[in-house]
Amino acid sequence: MCGITGFTGSESALPFLMQGLSRLEYRGYDSAGVTLISPQGLETLKTKGRLSELEELLKSRTLNQCAGIGHTRWATHGVPSNLNAHPHENEAETISLVHNGIIENYAELKEDLIHAGYHFQSDTDSEVIVQLLDYYYKSEQNMFTALKKTLKMLRGSWALCIVSVYEPDTLYVAKKESPMIIGQYEKGTFCASDAPAVLSYTKDILPLADGDMAVLRPNSLQVYNAAGKKMQPAFIHFPYDVQAAQKGGYDSFMMKEIYEQPKAVRETLRGRFRGMKIYMPEIDELKTDWQNVNRIVLIACGTAYHACIYADTLLKRDARIMSYAQPASEFRYCSPNVDEHTVCIFVSQSGETADTIAAMKLAKAKHCTTIAMTNVLGSSLARQTDTVVYTGAGPEIAVASTKAYTTQLVLLHVLMMKISEKLGYKPKNITRRIRDLKRMPEIIEETLGYRDQMKELAHMLKDQRDAYFIGRQLDYPTALEGALKLKEISYVHADAYYGGELKHGPIALIEKNTVVVALATQPDIAAKTISNIEETIARGANVILVTDQNIPAEKFHHVLRIPDAAPELANITSVVLLQLFAYFAAEEKGCDIDKPRNLAKSVTVE
Ligand code: F6R
Repeated sequence: MCGITGFTGSESALPFLMQGLSRLEYRGYDSAGVTLISPQGLETLKTKGRLSELEELLKSRTLNQCAGIGHTRWATHGVPSNLNAHPHENEAETISLVHNGIIENYAELKEDLIHAGYHFQSDTDSEVIVQLLDYYYKSEQNMFTALKKTLKMLRGSWALCIVSVYEPDTLYVAKKESPMIIGQYEKGTFCASDAPAVLSYTKDILPLADGDMAVLRPNSLQVYNAAGKKMQPAFIHFPYDVQAAQKGGYDSFMMKEIYEQPKAVRETLRGRFRGMKIYMPEIDELKTDWQNVNRIVLIACGTAYHACIYADTLLKRDARIMSYAQPASEFRYCSPNVDEHTVCIFVSQSGETADTIAAMKLAKAKHCTTIAMTNVLGSSLARQTDTVVYTGAGPEIAVASTKAYTTQLVLLHVLMMKISEKLGYKPKNITRRIRDLKRMPEIIEETLGYRDQMKELAHMLKDQRDAYFIGRQLDYPTALEGALKLKEISYVHADAYYGGELKHGPIALIEKNTVVVALATQPDIAAKTISNIEETIARGANVILVTDQNIPAEKFHHVLRIPDAAPELANITSVVLLQLFAYFAAEEKGCDIDKPRNLAKSVTVE
């Protein structure tokens, strides 16, 4: 959510800081600021609002300093305001910092500092860090030691970048449970909270690990691990270019990403099959004693959680094992009954979602096998689990997840088949499933041909406040995801129900013209869903039916026939239609599709 940039080099720092912040805008923010540093002192400019407002402030100034830090803030402690915006300085204006994360014990620390004579300007938790740094610098006269002492006092999460007048060409960086990367090029050394901020300067990036500290100078970089040991920086090559992080020819990132799904799915499945055999060495290499595994738990948040429900439903069909899907925010607080005989799978596009990471740490503490599925190389989740399988969606910038979801679906499908095999079961219908997975990019391509029809159908929502999505079995997670997409970008209230649950309450909401989106792609249960739909039609609902079954169209208002594929994969194509439906509903209502209100792309706080 918050964005950090930092630069020290032989040329003006401001262009780097500002371009980096603009590349991180998609993460969502409410204020922005920079500190530039020279031997003459610190110059901090910050404001509530968009980056364009910060640019206005910067316009009248000459700011050629060669080192500085920048930040875009998404409020957690203290309302969005000029004072709460980062960077934060100490009272003497000698140290300035930017911080992502949350300091859980900031209230106690603040009280102690106030007793020691410190005055605070903001309501943020972050300001205690800069005051503490000041406190320790006074006794230590050394920034690195002051930082180490400060970090020891903090409880919570942080990505920190610090500048001071004491060493005007040096950035001090620290990371715990909030992402931070470092890069270098011929004109300087820099850091950022996310790769798109630096991709126009380098594709070789160093993701810091939890507990790491780094000292950045124009021509040098030193990295220390949590134990204080100097580390050899291990850069990784980031496989995407800046272009991949821009809108291309589309009106929005979301539409671009919807259209990238065939490619994203292709990349994700690349190398996963040897003929008709599944190739997943990441799972083969696990030391897990599969014969004694008695439980599989799939854990995630939001859209990724819907992918987990899908995978769980699939696994239940293929293998006789106890399994369930649970939101990470529930798993971490429910005293889960898991142990060394449990395999926990964590799904996260960003790999940085705070609840998912906390759930993963709990599972590790309980000796479970931990598998991560994420889209981000070297993300916190990826680094801390026993093994990781990557989706190949490329950077997803629109807040509403689309290509990350479909890539999770296909990779989870392969992973569930692999796990079934490990557990001694032969997945049902495996030949057709593998054949259709291989064809999936073309199948999605064909589905995108429904674009105009979905636009027309979305018009139905123009004057509607509510919509309902129904589906059973493998169609249920699609119903959930369709409803989530619609509400998050168009603000139309949307709910999803199992078809069979309608008559137990929700049907009371159906009246003339209520929009109902019904999914009936599962041959064994489609007839039951059709009965559920008829119940809503009898009460005046305006029904859109998504199906590949042989159902007479005349009974329904609008029938969308998705391309033929194995029933276990039908949800991948039907969700693409629902993404388009939500998109055009939001467009019709004039919503800011890429930046829905109140939402951020990556939720790195609880
Ligand atoms: C919705 C959406 C969110 C995320 C959720 C988890 O469109 O994107 O619900 O799926 O915040 O994020 P990740 O997958 O990064 O852990």
